[in-house]
Amino acid sequence: MKYSISLRVVHWVMAALIFGLIAVGFYMSNIDPDASDKYELYPIHKSLGFIVLMLFFVRIVTRLKSHVPTPPEGLQRWEVRLSHTVHGLLYVSMFSMAFSGYMMNSTYAYVEGLDMFGLFTVPDITAKSEYWNGIFHTVHEYTAYTLVGSLVLHLAGVVKHKFMDVSENDVLARMV
Ligand code: HEM
Ligand code: HEM
Repeated sequence: MKYSISLRVVHWVMAALIFGLIAVGFYMSNIDPDASDKYELYPIHKSLGFIVLMLFFVRIVTRLKSHVPTPPEGLQRWEVRLSHTVHGLLYVSMFSMAFSGYMMNSTYAYVEGLDMFGLFTVPDITAKSEYWNGIFHTVHEYTAYTLVGSLVLHLAGVVKHKFMDVSENDVLARMV
């Protein structure tokens, strides 16, 4: 039994966006502040990050409405518990990253709204505040580590069940 086609599509689209955002996020925040291209990546990162925030809500609704397959029968109880915990962490950190990013922008005094690829502007939802900007920046930075850590576990689980387990436990087949 596979995940529904809509959950599979949204899983892979978000996975691609999130891998890109992690790479670009670490790269852009670590390059020299005086480098000429330092701020060229920020608008792209922010716009794609906001798309992830919107897709997150689409995903939650889709998940609530569609049938979610039960874990393969052959899995140990601890494996099921661990995979549910990791999925939970992934959902929380996905949301926290995208929301804290948007809030960082919304509280940042030097921009008005979030420019989406020059097409339209998403309005701010807060007052400008240096204090809150700092808080959301810290949340964004620390959740990045939680996200990367849970992703490592997520991928380790997929690889284990694909290559070091009986074929009935291959969870990847349910997501492709
Ligand atoms: C799931 C979505 C997102 C992911 C996975 C992500 C990932 C990251 C990562 C890994 C970093 C580097 C770590 C850090 O210094 O904080 C970063 C930095 C940053 N992100 Fe995101 N991000 C996301 C969404 C957003 C959104 C929606 C915005 C704004 C609208 C945003 C704005 C920023 C900014 C301004 C920085 C640079 C902070 C600095 O210069 O220190 N991000 N992001
Ligand atoms: C190459 C990268 C990835 C692979 C191979 C992969 C693979 C999978 C597989 C096979 C499942 C189904 C697990 C099961 O049946 O129990 C799954 C579920 C899931 N994946 Fe990924 N994934 C990847 C990237 C990501 C990323 C980047 C995220 C988010 C940050 C993510 C979040 C999730 C979540 C939350 C679930 C649980 C789905 C649900 O039950 O709602 N995955 N993934």
